[in-house]
This record gives sequence, C-alpha cells and structure tokens, in this order.
Amino acid sequence: MTMRAILSSLLLVLPFLAQPAAAQDAAAGERSFNKCRACHQVGESARNMVGPELNGLIGRHSGAVEGYSYSAANKNSGLTWDEATFTDYIKDPRAKIPGTKMIFAGIKNEKEIKDLIAFFKQFDKDGKKL
Ligand code: HEC
Repeated sequence: MTMRAILSSLLLVLPFLAQPAAAQDAAAGERSFNKCRACHQVGESARNMVGPELNGLIGRHSGAVEGYSYSAANKNSGLTWDEATFTDYIKDPRAKIPGTKMIFAGIKNEKEIKDLIAFFKQFDKDGKKL
C-alpha cells in the first residue's frame, strides 16, 4: 500500500475509533434489553406491563414506581438500584430478592450487565434521553 492509501484508510476508520466507549456500551445494552422487553419498557412513553417501567433505574429505590403492583418481597427489600446492587440482582433475581415475581433466569456475563447499565443510564426518570 502507498502511504496515501494507508492514510485514507485510517481516515475511514477514525470516526469509529473516536466513538466514546459509553455509546458503544449503551448500544450493546439496548440489544441486551431485548431480553427484558417482554415485561419492561423504558423511554418517554414507557408503561408498566408485566413488570414496572425502568426509567431512571440506576439510583432508583426498589418498589418505587407508582401504580405498579409489586410483590411484598420487592416492595420490602429496601434496596436501591445502584450499579452494584443491580449487578447482583440481575445475575439471579430470585437469589437477591427471594419471593420476587420477576421470573427471569438472569444474566451472568459481567460485560453484558455493564452494557445494560450504560443503556439504562441514558434515560432520566421521565424516560427522556440524557
Ligand atoms: C417475564 C417477565 C420479566 C422479564 C423477562 C424481566 N423482568 Fe424485571 N421484573 C418483572 C416483574 C414482574 C417485576 C416486579 C417484581 C416484583 O414485584 O417482585 C420486575 C422487576 C424488576 C426490577 C425491580 C424494579 C423496581 O422498581 O424495584 C428490575 C430492576 C428489573 N425487573 C430489571 C429487569 C431487567 C434488566 C430485565 C432484562 C435483563 C428484566 N427485568 C426482565 C418481570 C420481568
């Protein structure tokens, strides 16, 4: 390859390299959220379904969505969904909150959980993208 060809191919890939890691993580997290969509929504039009809407999740107190009928186990768990607590929970929901009515096998992969967190962090409590 000539120097010129090398330079122009570098210019082609640069925009992709320059994308912040967080944006890539959030995009991967959005794909992972497909596992939750049967029961949960996020975004400005998010409604409670089988499970509560998950806007502003990271930092939210457990059992806090109005109009959603939580199990006593979730409601009384006293958890705050910070990153560490959410990570623990999503690996095995029924181990973290025995008696929860969320029927989900869990996600064990740490990278996938981090991506999910990056995805959730994009939405404020009203579901607006930050
Ligand atoms: C089959 C339905 C179902 C699936 C799939 C599911 N959930 Fe849930 N989820 C629920 C239900 C039902 C609850 C309410 C639990 C309770 O009240 O015990 C819940 C509760 C939660 C809570 C607690 C919310 C709060 O306000 O305290 C979080 C966090 C959560 N789910 C995250 C997820 C994520 C992330 C995924 C996907 C990786 C997922 N869920 C997949 C049904 C589901």
